[in-house]
Amino acid sequence: MAGVDLGLDGKVVLVTGASEGIGRAVAEAFAREGGRLVLLARRADRLEAAAAAVRALGAETLAVPADVTRPADVSRAVDAALNRFGAVHVLVNNVGGSLGTLSLGLEEIDDAQWSAVFEQNVFSAVRVTRAVLPPMRRQGWGRIIFIASESGIQPDPTGAPYNAAKAAVIALAKTLSKAHAAEGILVNTVSPAFVRTPAVSDMLRRYAERAGISAEAAEAAFLTRRRPHIEVRRPGSPEEVAAAVVFLASEAAAFINGANLRVDGGSVASV
Ligand SMILES: NC(=O)c1ccc[n+]([C@@H]2O[C@H](COP(=O)([O-])OP(=O)(O)OC[C@H]3O[C@@H](n4cnc5c(N)ncnc54)[C@H](OP(=O)(O)O)[C@@H]3O)[C@@H](O)[C@H]2O)c1
Repeated sequence: MAGVDLGLDGKVVLVTGASEGIGRAVAEAFAREGGRLVLLARRADRLEAAAAAVRALGAETLAVPADVTRPADVSRAVDAALNRFGAVHVLVNNVGGSLGTLSLGLEEIDDAQWSAVFEQNVFSAVRVTRAVLPPMRRQGWGRIIFIASESGIQPDPTGAPYNAAKAAVIALAKTLSKAHAAEGILVNTVSPAFVRTPAVSDMLRRYAERAGISAEAAEAAFLTRRRPHIEVRRPGSPEEVAAAVVFLASEAAAFINGANLRVDGGSVASV
């Protein structure tokens, strides 16, 4: 019996923050569906290692070292993608993060930190999206997927810049979904919760050191105290997030637009 044809064979997929964590899993998942990949991240050595792994899955892959908070890097990277492949069909705006502000209260966070978190999560995605919209419009087909977070829907009492930035990402995606669907460009958001990536492992390691406990105990404590609604009682994997991203980019999701798909084990408690 034939499975669902995702229709992603040959599609050019640009993933920001693709060398580690969720971005890397997304790149590998698209490679398995026959996509051609454009991978962006800052550190060239880690990016090349990720590109080699994606190529090993049989995907044509272009790795462009770039910091998406720098406008010149964004234009250079999108130009490189268009020069190499002549198109960008799918954009995954994955770069984000709290830049160390997650456990801080409002009075502990200065203006420079607010700006940096918004650059990292919002303005970078605005710029990459603005750069790929013209070619997507010309080809009359595009899929844009933003990686937001449970924090944009169900914020913690600390980490206001990250929570507010992810809420902005969700609103940005919804805006674009209304503006561009008639041109064949569908825009959706994926909002993960507590996924085991290098960023999260670092956070748990620091917490474990402060508390004098093991990394496993730190993870269990985080689940119990901070994420009581993750009813599956474990963190998610990058691959579980990637599966949702691939689905949203696929022909199987051609009538899904403006959605915010929570891949969070139930962490967001509202319906
Ligand atoms: N992990 C979670 O539990 C979780 C939960 C909810 C939402 N999210 C969201 O999911 C996304 C990915 O998170 P993650 O945990 O997978 O992150 P991660 O493990 O820290 O991976 C980050 C990736 O992004 C790259 N990167 C970081 N800043 C960049 C920049 N300015 N320009 C280009 N590349 C950059 C990194 O490489 P370089 O450092 O070499 O650039 C790396 O490839 C983020 O938007 C995050 O907010 C994560």
